[in-house]
Amino acid sequence: MLTINCLGAGRWGPNLVRGFANLPDVRVHLVCDQREERLKVIRQRIAGIETTTDVEAAINDPSADALVIATPVQSHFELTRLALEAGKHVLVEKPLCGSVEECEELHRIAEQRGLVLAVGHVFLFNNGIRKVHELIHSGDLGRVHYIHATRTNLGPIREDVNASWDLAAHDLSIFDYWLDGPSLAVSARGECYLNPPIDDVVVASYRYANQVLACVHTSWMNPKKVREITIVGEKRMVVWNDMDLIEPVRVYDKSVDAGREENYADSFGASRMIIRDGDVLIPKIPAGEPLQSECRHFIDCILNQTEPVNNAAAATQVVRALIATDESIRQHGVEVGISQPADRRDSQIRELIAAGV
Ligand SMILES: NC(=O)c1ccc[n+]([C@@H]2O[C@H](COP(=O)([O-])OP(=O)(O)OC[C@H]3O[C@@H](n4cnc5c(N)ncnc54)[C@H](O)[C@@H]3O)[C@@H](O)[C@H]2O)c1
Repeated sequence: MLTINCLGAGRWGPNLVRGFANLPDVRVHLVCDQREERLKVIRQRIAGIETTTDVEAAINDPSADALVIATPVQSHFELTRLALEAGKHVLVEKPLCGSVEECEELHRIAEQRGLVLAVGHVFLFNNGIRKVHELIHSGDLGRVHYIHATRTNLGPIREDVNASWDLAAHDLSIFDYWLDGPSLAVSARGECYLNPPIDDVVVASYRYANQVLACVHTSWMNPKKVREITIVGEKRMVVWNDMDLIEPVRVYDKSVDAGREENYADSFGASRMIIRDGDVLIPKIPAGEPLQSECRHFIDCILNQTEPVNNAAAATQVVRALIATDESIRQHGVEVGISQPADRRDSQIRELIAAGV
């Protein structure tokens, strides 16, 4: 039986409390928030749960094996550092921190102390996202050409980070997972309408290795809740739609074959594009709540002493991309290189030179 304390009971924290409280081998001991009114909500939802406004007591509680942190991003570094230094495993919400240095410092402390540090990139536990990973890696789609993501809604409006830090953090974690590596450069535009200087809408294009372009449109100022990603491959195309609870993945047996010799004969030597317009296949996606799987995975990583899928290194790479996105917005869309961990720097520089960045 593992004991967990949760920090932050705002919009998202109660979902994590529920996720862990549902696990048979976990006891949620204390929920902590600086606002008593939020703790009241928790007590009303979960009978018998203890709550506190004392952050230090929740972190240093000797009965707790792990801390779950669902507070605004500006507090992630300090709370996670204190928790790790108190010897607790940590699941902290995305984005990991506001700077790469802070992310790296937390990663280092966790490694030194042999503690699990996981980050709330919950879409890595979404069965539709996992199915698309399988389709890409089985070769079913052929080479991936480009990806387009839309993540919009009317609210919730954040006052601490822009739409990219809040929403594109998810898409970047998904792209890196599907494409087996980090984004290399970004060109982005953003605008703030409600609460300057926080951008309410961000449209960003990320360049990945092998000429893959991945674009994201994020906004909390949009009439429609959309969570949709299109992947255009050389042989097939896929649409993942998280709003479709029954059939979230559709595989389009469609492609464009460019310049096949045998097709030139009737076109007087001119190059021809052959459009292949086949069936739409709907693969069966196993049921399962991503948040529940994320909670289970965190506990399994602690029990088995294994590295989480949603680990600090992957989360740091997302933060690198978000920082470069802000810089590109500041420079009105100029393409900005995304910094890489030391072991990838040489290959990234070669890619960027080849791409003319
Ligand atoms: N994984 C997801 O899908 C998902 C969804 C929503 C939010 N989030 C993330 O969860 C985090 C919180 O988001 P939210 O929407 O719940 O924010 P929120 O502002 O609604 O809630 C944050 C809560 O933390 C409390 N708090 C702040 N500082 C604290 C401290 N030092 N100690 C204890 N409590 C403190 C606040 O009083 C507030 O109740 C963010 O990092 C956000 O990106 C993730």
